[in-house]
Amino acid sequence: MSSENLVHAVAGAALVAGCSSFILGQRAQNAEICKNLENLIQTDAYAFYLKEKLYEVFKTCPSNDSSEPRVIKILKYGFPGLDNIRVFSDHILSYDRRNRVAHWVLEHITDPCISNQFGVNRKIAVFRSDIAIPTMFRSTNQDYYRSGFDRGHLAAAANHKLNQQHMNDTFVLSNIAPQVGVGFNRDSWNDLEMYTRNLLNSYPEIYICTGSMNEPKVKNSNLCVEYDCIGSSVVAVPTHFFKIILCLTKDGKFVLESYAMPNEYISNDIDLKTFRRPPEAIEKITGLQFFDKIKRNQYVSINGSQVRNDDDDDGNQEEAPDP
Ligand SMILES: *[C@@H]1O[C@H](CO)[C@@H](O)[C@H](O)[C@H]1NC(C)=O
Ligand SMILES: *[C@@H]1O[C@H](CO)[C@@H](O)[C@H](O)[C@H]1NC(C)=O
Ligand SMILES: *[C@@H]1O[C@H](CO)[C@@H](O)[C@H](O)[C@H]1NC(C)=O
Repeated sequence: MSSENLVHAVAGAALVAGCSSFILGQRAQNAEICKNLENLIQTDAYAFYLKEKLYEVFKTCPSNDSSEPRVIKILKYGFPGLDNIRVFSDHILSYDRRNRVAHWVLEHITDPCISNQFGVNRKIAVFRSDIAIPTMFRSTNQDYYRSGFDRGHLAAAANHKLNQQHMNDTFVLSNIAPQVGVGFNRDSWNDLEMYTRNLLNSYPEIYICTGSMNEPKVKNSNLCVEYDCIGSSVVAVPTHFFKIILCLTKDGKFVLESYAMPNEYISNDIDLKTFRRPPEAIEKITGLQFFDKIKRNQYVSINGSQVRNDDDDDGNQEEAPDP
């Protein structure tokens, strides 16, 4: 099934949940959406699979935007992949049960998300297991204890300061992965997170897709994927973490930056630009697709280099501005 259908299912579910609460004025329209959702659920296995989770989520999540549920906003430009989707109050992730870490975590940030107007406190948030994941696939605090690795956030806590629930949700262990502490989580990776937030000085809205990646390397003339695991839950320690940053410009265009950093000590004097990679290279390793609803020619630039518009390549002058 297409991610298009799923987004419709999600939208439908959001509005179904809304039937009983904040969208009282639109009964007739909702009835039609509810009907469409019921039809979709009967023909689409993914919509069926997600139905209950979505109903549950929309009943319990506080929303301060009655016009558009967060989930619709966050997923606007596509699902990177469809494995074990978990919807939180301000981020959405796909969980890899085998490796006990997320495949990807998707966030949407604007200035109010990072400016902490309401006294949100990071210190009261506590790391806790994700109880929606079956026990045998779940990571625990005990797995990390004395493992030598930090509990590294994928959706950064500092991106979710609009309310305490948003912040708390980033401490659920499905958003956490084993990261090297000194030189990575506490340094270079943190620098990349701060760099990302600073992009809000130049762009009004940013989407961030962050995840874990195990990169093949050469061993005895073949390629080989090797990674450590920690704790009795056997949590994989990713060899790399990626971050794909989609910036919306004020005039509705897109700028993309794409990074993959090795999960190891990285010296302070290495420029973050060193870790840029073509997004396709990360897609190929992870099996994910990033922001696939955006066409390549809608990008102004990718990794700082200008994207050539296909129309120009064709020599098609029809839409070219007057000289
Ligand atoms: C929604 O946000 C506004 C400020 O942007 C605030 O004044 C209001 O109290 C918030 N409402 C809820 C229900 O959180
Ligand atoms: C955030 O987590 C702390 C610690 O578990 C808890 O005391 C607090 O009530 C939580 N706040 C919200 C809004 O969920
Ligand atoms: C992305 O980054 C890499 C590494 O800097 C660069 O080679 C590539 O040209 C960039 N742009 C695209 C479109 O991948």
